[in-house]
Amino acid sequence: MNSHNIFGQLWANSLVYFSLVHMFVIVSANVEELYDTKSRTSDLLWTKYPESGGWEEVTGLSLERDSIRYHQVCNAVTNPSNWIRSPYIESKGAKRAYIDVEFSMVKCEELQTGCSETFNLFYYESDTDQSSSTFPPWRENPYVKIDTIAAGERFSNIEFSREEGMNRKTWTLGPLTRRGFYLAAEDKGACMSLMRVRVYSYYCPNVTNSLAKFPRTVAGNDVASLVEVPGKCVQYANSTALEAPRYYCNSNGEWKVRTGVCHCKPGYQANSLLTSCEVCGQGRYKSSHGNEECVQCPAHSISAGVSSTLSSTGKKAASHFCVCEPAYYRTTNEDIHSPCTKPPSEPTSVTFHVNQTFVTINWAPPLDDGGRNDVYYNVSCDLCERRSKTGDAVHNCFPCGSGVTYNVPGHQRIKGTSLKISDLKPFSNYRFKIFAMNGVSASSETAPERALVFAVTPEAEPSAIIDPRAVSTFDRNFTLSWSKPLLPNGMITKYQLVCDDVTATNGKFAASIKSDKAPLLLETENQTITVASLKPGHIYIARVRAATSTGYGPYSELVTIRTTRSSSDVNRSQSPIGLIIGIGVGACVILLAMLAFCYYRKQNISRERMSNESSSEEKAPFTGSKEDNLIVRLPSIGGPRIYVEYPDPHKAVRDFHCEIDISDLSIEETIGRGEFGEVCRGQYHCGEVDVCVAVKRLKQGADAKDQLNFLKEASTMAQFSHPNVVQLKGVVTKSRPQMIVTEYMENGSLDVFLKNHTDTLSMVQLLQMLKGIASGMRYLSSMKYVHRDLAARNILVNSDLVCKVSDFGLSRTLENDPHATYTTQGGKIAIRWTAPECIRFRKFTSNSDVWSYGIVMWEVMSYGEKPYWDMSNQEVIESIDEGYRLPAPYDCPVCLHQLMVECWAFDAKHRPTMNDIYQRLDALLETPSNLSDRNLEQPTTPTTETAIPISIPA
Ligand SMILES: *[C@@H]1O[C@H](CO)[C@@H](O)[C@H](O)[C@H]1NC(C)=O
Ligand SMILES: *[C@@H]1O[C@H](CO)[C@@H](O)[C@H](O)[C@H]1NC(C)=O
Ligand SMILES: *[C@@H]1O[C@H](CO)[C@@H](O)[C@H](O)[C@H]1NC(C)=O
Ligand SMILES: *[C@@H]1O[C@H](CO)[C@@H](O)[C@H](O)[C@H]1NC(C)=O
Repeated sequence: MNSHNIFGQLWANSLVYFSLVHMFVIVSANVEELYDTKSRTSDLLWTKYPESGGWEEVTGLSLERDSIRYHQVCNAVTNPSNWIRSPYIESKGAKRAYIDVEFSMVKCEELQTGCSETFNLFYYESDTDQSSSTFPPWRENPYVKIDTIAAGERFSNIEFSREEGMNRKTWTLGPLTRRGFYLAAEDKGACMSLMRVRVYSYYCPNVTNSLAKFPRTVAGNDVASLVEVPGKCVQYANSTALEAPRYYCNSNGEWKVRTGVCHCKPGYQANSLLTSCEVCGQGRYKSSHGNEECVQCPAHSISAGVSSTLSSTGKKAASHFCVCEPAYYRTTNEDIHSPCTKPPSEPTSVTFHVNQTFVTINWAPPLDDGGRNDVYYNVSCDLCERRSKTGDAVHNCFPCGSGVTYNVPGHQRIKGTSLKISDLKPFSNYRFKIFAMNGVSASSETAPERALVFAVTPEAEPSAIIDPRAVSTFDRNFTLSWSKPLLPNGMITKYQLVCDDVTATNGKFAASIKSDKAPLLLETENQTITVASLKPGHIYIARVRAATSTGYGPYSELVTIRTTRSSSDVNRSQSPIGLIIGIGVGACVILLAMLAFCYYRKQNISRERMSNESSSEEKAPFTGSKEDNLIVRLPSIGGPRIYVEYPDPHKAVRDFHCEIDISDLSIEETIGRGEFGEVCRGQYHCGEVDVCVAVKRLKQGADAKDQLNFLKEASTMAQFSHPNVVQLKGVVTKSRPQMIVTEYMENGSLDVFLKNHTDTLSMVQLLQMLKGIASGMRYLSSMKYVHRDLAARNILVNSDLVCKVSDFGLSRTLENDPHATYTTQGGKIAIRWTAPECIRFRKFTSNSDVWSYGIVMWEVMSYGEKPYWDMSNQEVIESIDEGYRLPAPYDCPVCLHQLMVECWAFDAKHRPTMNDIYQRLDALLETPSNLSDRNLEQPTTPTTETAIPISIPA
């Protein structure tokens, strides 16, 4: 017991040291610990044999004051056999186990008793923990001896330093074949401590290497053995059977010699450690299996599926290709590595040139080629309807079809930047679209960008008239009609008829008519013409041709006409009849003049009475109107209601106090030029407001007579105050130049206004205008003022389309009217607007103004057409005398034409008064249904009984 205590003390001390010098060299993750006494702090539970007197388990202290359990034996019995056996140690699959044993032994010399200096180590394999105190039997067989262990040089001795007494030995067990085993030690009489028994094995840990996963693998049972371990590719990687990944685990639990390879799938790339495959980042892609890196998406593409997969799984999508950004495309020939491109922008700098029936279009390449170099152009041609004479024809366009010729074959795929298109129709509107396209245009859903060209081909000569025919033949006249040429090639401006008297020229017609020297050459705008003043019973030949602004088309075939023979042949002399008519007319005129005189006197008396009683009729439109305060010092209500001609207009200016301070006037721009000087638009500062005014300025160097006449107009106007008579605002006489200031009429003169608004004004608007003019004229006639030059050009239109009578100059009016002509009696007259009695006798009355009013009506209804068209003044005078009257304009209500015809009563007394006219127009406006009966004939065809066709003398 005593010695036991000594040794106990001894081993405990040495143990402290062992812990200090860390005896266990192999401290590695690749070691599988199977058993270790050191880790146990309570009973080790080894089985002892014999139960007592042999091995005993004791406790020592480690440096950390942890208790440690170990076995010791030291009984000096002769020939003893003391066994201890470990608990069942599971081998955990190890084919080879390592056993570290640490022990110390006391040299026998140190002891007085007989002693041994070795002990035996055994093991026993078993699949189950089946041991007991008697099984397996305590002897070498069934136990398998591992070794007989000697202390070697190292013995423990109290004198020796402690570390030198400790032995450590390692054995290997194997190959192990069972699930586990027991270790046993037999003491043959030594004095020793079995300080620590540790059993372990080696394994290769699971590892991910080169994108393959290898499982934890127990090392082989042989020192030299290498365990081949097949790997498994990581997620998103695979490999081929030939290149399957393999790794070898050596007996030390070290992985050696890796073979095979794994590749990341498309859309994934290996991380830097080659331990996983990671999704390509945004904007990157990888198209193949392999371990190359993801690369940047080509230009204008984005990694595929990013958005969709992100939204559904919340993970980044693996892009094995990149899709084009919206509005970018690839052609079918381009692969996923190609950049995406887009259609080009429109062609630039488009110019075109029309020459007769061909157009040359030039353009420059688009500013943006969409990232491609295969730009081409597709030119389409459309023929469009003409909307109007000046319309820009974006209206009812249809493809040109095969009628046109392109100088480039395949005009739908032009590489160059110019194209000539020929065989266009004259006088047509064409629309060309130049589409810029490239390889991806077909993929794009949006229409290709294009430039537009609108080309108008010029007029050309019309084609021949194919069907001239005589529609009526009389003794002295015949009428030819024809249809429009099949190809007008423009606006037909006129038709020309040449006619020759075959009978008179004795058959030499061919030469004369073909040399364009035909004695009879007539022109018309219509498709019918009457040739008059012919000889009865003669044979005539005629042919017609049409003209556009470009020139004449070819003549038609000749038409042969024979005039009938008639009885009127016999007494052709018209002079007696003419004389009789002349005398009759003269008598009538005298009679009428007398009657008219009486009538006028009566009228005057009643009118004066009326105006004294009430002037409401003419003043009514002004009451409360905002213009009221703009009227400059008009004659007061009680002033003259009958127009007074002032011999000295300066007196009128004084009388009417209409002088304007020049500082209240600012001139803005010149809008026209009159006979006395220019007409300007200006602002008149009147009271608190600025009024837009027209200012007539007397030109520099005007003589006294001019000045007088200039002011006469003002003195006339100053006496008028009516919404349909241009209003005088005042005059400037105190400074030079002298000026007449009137209200400003935005829409200018009625004739121009009508021409500019052809077919755009409604019937009611036209009637309103006519009624306005009638109202103004009624007022003037009530003032006993005779206008003498009433015509559309002397009516002004304001922005509200209100028409106002203007131009009150007296002598000068007609002298400067381009339409006026000198009559045989001297003086100038606008023949076409003037009643016959004025032309003959210079007898101007309100009734002759009514005639002019009828002409104005006709001008309005025909949108500014020139009365009597191209007839000469002489022809007009003669045809009026013969009873011809202007026919109803196209679309003119019959009742309006009826009113015109009444205005044109040859006898002035039979014409309606301005008041009558006003009332009738008013009534018509009340019941517009009366307007529905329209004239739909061509304008020159007479429609009333009083009219006869135009008759043009040869
Ligand atoms: C790996 O993936 C590719 C592409 O899907 C396939 O062709 C190949 O057969 C796969 N290999 C293995 C071993 O699954
Ligand atoms: C129009 O074309 C003709 C030939 O067809 C040519 O002689 C002429 O010079 C051209 N005119 C213009 C203005 O280009
Ligand atoms: C070219 O234009 C024509 C006419 O517009 C059209 O029919 C054709 O499809 C276009 N060609 C291409 C390639 O777009
Ligand atoms: C043609 O002459 C006939 C008979 O002389 C005459 O009745 C008719 O009005 C004339 N026609 C024209 C349009 O002058």
